[in-house]
Amino acid sequence: MSNFDDTGSILGSADERVASQQERFEKIRTLVCPDSSVASLKLAKEVAALILERQANGQTFVLGLATGSTPVPFYRELIRLHQNENLSFKNVVTFNLDEYYGLKRDHPESYFRFMHDQLFDHVDIPTEQIHIPDGTIPMESVYDYCLSYEKQIEEAGGLDLQILGIGRTGHIGFNEPGSAMESTTRMITLDRVTRQDAAADFMGVANVPRSAITMGVGTILKAKNLVLMAWGSNKADIVKEASEGEITDRVSASFLQTHHSAVFLIDSAASSRLTRFRHPWLVGAVNWDASMKKRAVTWLSSQLNKPILKLVDEDYNEKGTGELLASTSEAAYEVNIDCFNRVQHTITGWPGGKPNADDSYRPERANPFPKRVLVLSPEPMDAFIGMGGTLNRLKEQGHEISLLFQTSGNLRVADVAALNFARVTLEMAEAIAESGWEDQKRYAQSIINALDEKGEFGVDNQLVRRLKGLILRGEVRDAASVCGLEPGAVRFLDLPFYEEGRYRRFQRTESDVEIMQAVLEDLKPDMIFVTGNSGDPSSNQAIAFNCFAEAWSNFSDESWSSNCRVWSYRGRDGGFETHEIEMAVPMSPDQLEQKAEAIRKFMSTSDDDLSTPTRNREIAALYDALGMAEYEAIEAFCRWKG
Ligand code: F6R
Repeated sequence: MSNFDDTGSILGSADERVASQQERFEKIRTLVCPDSSVASLKLAKEVAALILERQANGQTFVLGLATGSTPVPFYRELIRLHQNENLSFKNVVTFNLDEYYGLKRDHPESYFRFMHDQLFDHVDIPTEQIHIPDGTIPMESVYDYCLSYEKQIEEAGGLDLQILGIGRTGHIGFNEPGSAMESTTRMITLDRVTRQDAAADFMGVANVPRSAITMGVGTILKAKNLVLMAWGSNKADIVKEASEGEITDRVSASFLQTHHSAVFLIDSAASSRLTRFRHPWLVGAVNWDASMKKRAVTWLSSQLNKPILKLVDEDYNEKGTGELLASTSEAAYEVNIDCFNRVQHTITGWPGGKPNADDSYRPERANPFPKRVLVLSPEPMDAFIGMGGTLNRLKEQGHEISLLFQTSGNLRVADVAALNFARVTLEMAEAIAESGWEDQKRYAQSIINALDEKGEFGVDNQLVRRLKGLILRGEVRDAASVCGLEPGAVRFLDLPFYEEGRYRRFQRTESDVEIMQAVLEDLKPDMIFVTGNSGDPSSNQAIAFNCFAEAWSNFSDESWSSNCRVWSYRGRDGGFETHEIEMAVPMSPDQLEQKAEAIRKFMSTSDDDLSTPTRNREIAALYDALGMAEYEAIEAFCRWKG
């Protein structure tokens, strides 16, 4: 079976692939690995072996490369192999998949710059062997240029291996929905979702280029080997569609099903929607423990659009879950009741536990009461998106809340917010015209100048980033106050990894972990809320989570930590599936409106993800459909056990 282990190889041998029973829905060989770094290390090792093999024969190795966050750990490992193990890239010829159109090569978000920062500047590849589509060539020359790019690949002997990521639209390269299977290198208009996903990198969706030059699907399919990597729960839906769905130009990656040696290398979060993991009873025998039953029954109920308590034996048989009843010798009625209760017990209006109540079936313990509750928000908006309503409940129910913002989030603040602040300060200084205001005047002017000089796609200097961070802090305080929290409950950690980085290139440092460790040591909380544990590992959220997790692991012997429960919430990284939810906190229409009000306080961010109330309504609708009480909205949580 194509599970990831240390013995099997990632590359090659797909022709001989015999899909196991479990994998029979997957039309592409798919290797699922515990995490992205293990997978990237192994891939890098195999690629290095191929490079060396060619070197020994005096031949070149032609490597197709991708940008974005997905291949970053793979590139880091190639660099390490070069620096520590003398792997030379002198015989490597590279071709990148794509480039934004209209970006100068030295723009921080150009793929030219990205590739040099992430790989080329750190290895010994000769410059003339690097090929990246040129996004600066005049429009009238694009057609000929693309033909010549194709020709260069051919003249190099074709791609030996193409590395791919996958966009949420299913694109490989920038082959957005509608791209033909035979398409070749060309200019393409970027999809709205793709531009949205790049918004943080460009500090606002308005700054994301509208078009790009990309290798075609046909160009990619000509490669001798193809490895598509995907990390994080955000990619789970599209990975399933590409691997198990029909071959369609709506999902370019589905064309990889036609390739003789394409392989998907994914982490467990990205694999979670594949049939073998999501509905394992459809592909083989399963252990019908309580959690598997809950998974199957909630699925059955939603498939048939029938509340749990109305499911009958025939329903179980018809949808392939008959084995559940057979193997447990239970009737549908008994299974239904059991599962109904399990879901019912996740619902609580007392997220911090209900004092003086029997807590045997409640998600959280009654004692201690009140609790010291630590809420970690990787970026300022995350906690409000994921648990704004619950924050309010916890506060109202008397718990001691510390809401900690791990990073400043200053990269999300729009220029115009900083500009407005600086202009008002300047006007004040000019109107007052007193010598005491000279410093403010100079400060405001330097902000205006910095923003002016930066131009449309430039990078903010530290002064501007600091101001943007402060503006966001003000909004955070307003939002927290809407949720009933006093300013004293809110703290800003400004973790260094964020202050020194850019989106997709953040790197955790020792000081980040130390800061988190000091926080835990100081607060010794009874309950912690976190997010980012299933996100793209290079996202700000995942890095912030990992800083917490590493710090947390240092307290495993302490009694306070064994009595502390850690709950995860979901902000930007997609919701939980119904069966995963272990605590569901209902919200009334008024509470939902209050949460929306808190989110509206973030006026300065160039973030369009304000659809949270819709998501909370959807969870409530799912619970309603299972036959639970009908709530306006629900915030969902799941235990994190380390
Ligand atoms: C980039 C590219 C794209 C990305 C995809 C995923 O060269 O070709 O197809 O691989 O958009 O991006 P990340 O890895 O940032 O999620």
